[in-house]
Amino acid sequence: MFENLQALPEDPILGLMAAFRADTATTKIDLGVGVYKDEHGKTPVLRAVRAAEQAVLADQQTKTYVGPAGNEQFNALIAELVLGSKHPALTGGRVRAVQAPGGCGALRLGAELLTVGGARPTVHVSDPTWANHVPLLSGAGLKLERYPYFEHRTGTVKFDAMLERLSSLPAGDVVLLHGCCHNPTGADLSIAQWRKIADVLLQRRLVPYVDIAYQGLGEGIDEDAEGARLIAATVPEALIAVSCSKNFGLYRERVGALMVLTESSTQTTATASHLRKIARGIWSMPPDHGAAIVARILSDAKLNQDWRNEVDAMRNRMLSLRSALSTALAKTCSAEMASVIEKQRGMFSTIPVTPEAADTLRQQHHIYMTRDGRINIAGVSMAAIDYIAKAIGSVA
Ligand code: LMR
Repeated sequence: MFENLQALPEDPILGLMAAFRADTATTKIDLGVGVYKDEHGKTPVLRAVRAAEQAVLADQQTKTYVGPAGNEQFNALIAELVLGSKHPALTGGRVRAVQAPGGCGALRLGAELLTVGGARPTVHVSDPTWANHVPLLSGAGLKLERYPYFEHRTGTVKFDAMLERLSSLPAGDVVLLHGCCHNPTGADLSIAQWRKIADVLLQRRLVPYVDIAYQGLGEGIDEDAEGARLIAATVPEALIAVSCSKNFGLYRERVGALMVLTESSTQTTATASHLRKIARGIWSMPPDHGAAIVARILSDAKLNQDWRNEVDAMRNRMLSLRSALSTALAKTCSAEMASVIEKQRGMFSTIPVTPEAADTLRQQHHIYMTRDGRINIAGVSMAAIDYIAKAIGSVA
């Protein structure tokens, strides 16, 4: 049965992670996979997570099943974190969150929901988008198309071209939007641009599918959710995939949620039953541990505040790194390369280097980045900035 299977090339992001681990050079620098790192290259367990984890373990009385929707306290709290507790879609009962194994599980759950009843809407994703959006969405049988998004030369959003494309799409098509901290480019929409997009989605009866995986790591916890909040206040139906990997540092625990918004609370209740059925048919029930930690943090005023402080510290460190790297790159590269980094937000920037230049940086300088020029800003340490800037300058 398996005799005809050929070995596949490595995943563009996870393959890089494995190659970095195997590299024995002491000077190696990992700007590849999107995980937060401190100045020493460590990805720490957050203080609030450690405290919540201890409390969860101390209180836990059973390991019995949680059910296909996961932890309902987590579901309610995560919806409030994303939309804000007073959002009319939430208070009107039109939104329901269902826990999923990470942002990936959430994205797949939403993709499967889009096919319920035999529909196969086209999903429009940004050009470029996170590499794993493609298998996660097309694996559910959905067709993907790309809308113009990123101007490589200037590192900014091609907003007019994006809006024009969205304005020409047929009703019922789905538009995938990055809630904040666009992956891989770091080029985000302004709130005025979100407003224009929300209007086009409403007028053309398109269904937004917002992927929010970096809330708090761009401009702030509430600021980063403004686009998603605006969309949910404007359109009748939407999906929002949430990840707690980055902002809670819970990567390996696989914590996420899919939020569904429909026209009425009755419709939302019905749709949520489909989500539970889909979940039951794929993973049956999500893992509990990480979601229990998030629920504990969000429901405890002290832990919640401490977590917010930690998110602020991660964001501010990345902003300082952006600024220092930009200053160093201004000396070794073009002014454009420097300004790209300074302008963008979140964990990533896409810098204008060729795939061959990215290969040279890996092979000769032991600096790891994906071949599209995406760099993880948190992987840069202050101590390595000059080394990185010089190396990029030698290939750019
Ligand atoms: C990334 O983009 O590097 C992260 O979201 C990790 C992943 O799963 O690709």
